[in-house]
Amino acid sequence: MTAEIRGIGAFIPEKVITNEDLCKTVDTTDEWIKSHTGIEKRHMIADEDATSDMATRAARVAMERAQVDAEELDMIIVSSVTGDYPGFPSTACLVQKNLGAEQAGAFDILAGCTGFIYGLSIAKNMILGGDFKHILVIGAESLTRITNWDDRNTCVLFGDGAGAAIVSANNHVDGRGILQSVLKAEGAGAEYLMRKAGGSRHPLNAETNIADNLLSMNGRRVYGFAVRVNTILINSLLKKHNLRIGDIKYIVPHQANERIIQAVSERMNIPMDKFYLNIREYANTSAASVPLALNEMVEKKLLNKGDLIMTLGFGAGLTYGGNLIRW
Ligand code: ACO
Repeated sequence: MTAEIRGIGAFIPEKVITNEDLCKTVDTTDEWIKSHTGIEKRHMIADEDATSDMATRAARVAMERAQVDAEELDMIIVSSVTGDYPGFPSTACLVQKNLGAEQAGAFDILAGCTGFIYGLSIAKNMILGGDFKHILVIGAESLTRITNWDDRNTCVLFGDGAGAAIVSANNHVDGRGILQSVLKAEGAGAEYLMRKAGGSRHPLNAETNIADNLLSMNGRRVYGFAVRVNTILINSLLKKHNLRIGDIKYIVPHQANERIIQAVSERMNIPMDKFYLNIREYANTSAASVPLALNEMVEKKLLNKGDLIMTLGFGAGLTYGGNLIRW
């Protein structure tokens, strides 16, 4: 038995914020943003929605494509740094209610932009353990709700959206499925990417500085980390299966900055067209970025049954991880 991705889906909010829009509020230019990140626009969650609403819509698309009904779901895993509530209840439980998935367990995971990668690996291992057949894995973020719109270093980088996958037991002997995962962390870099207030270390109170309740980042540190760990992930996924880069049809990296991927491509001598990128349209959607990319690739018919692909993630924690998948 293997654990395969049987269906994928996404939800992108309609509202768009262009680079030009941001030039009106902070000291930046379209040219700076494009040349330093590759980003042209980002989508913003509707005023009346929260993360679980986008997650539920993405899930419905994935379930339809996988032909798995709500009552067949055994577990729902949501990865998000922007859940509906701080801490509890979990966003996964809200999705479970929305879908009417009454037989499913539900929990959230917190692994920053690597969350969907962690989620796929957890789902794979739960299925291979034999107790679960269909698991819904979601990466969903409303980062614009925790963006500091006065900070040009970060406000240009992030966007909202949700992606979902149905991971199911595959009893065919076709070798399709999530073959290998590498999940790592570097907690020593925790302070480089954080939302400082609102937890047990700095509870919210009347003295809380508003900026401490929003996302803050040391961009240079995260950039260096990202280039280094992507190289480690690609090498280790290849090595475990004795593969060469030519055996991989696409590498689907977390979409944080096009320049990170360019640096990895140059260092490892991997052509840029091996990496699937859509950061121009959506910016960095954290845990949603890899499933959004996979969804787009499926809709563009870029993936055929049996193709080998890699998904890579890196982000807050700091965390990093990758999956080798036979589609
Ligand atoms: N417009 C104009 N100038 C800017 C802007 C902006 N939007 N943002 C920063 N600058 C300025 C800086 O102030 C700095 O000016 P200074 O030299 O006078 O101080 C100058 O540009 C260069 O700053 P750098 O930090 O060196 O810029 P860099 O080329 O490294 O790009 C960036 C910054 C895009 C943030 C980059 O470091 C990066 O992508 N880092 C990684 C981010 C990332 O991957 N995050 C992923 C995790 S997200 C998650 O887990 C939720």
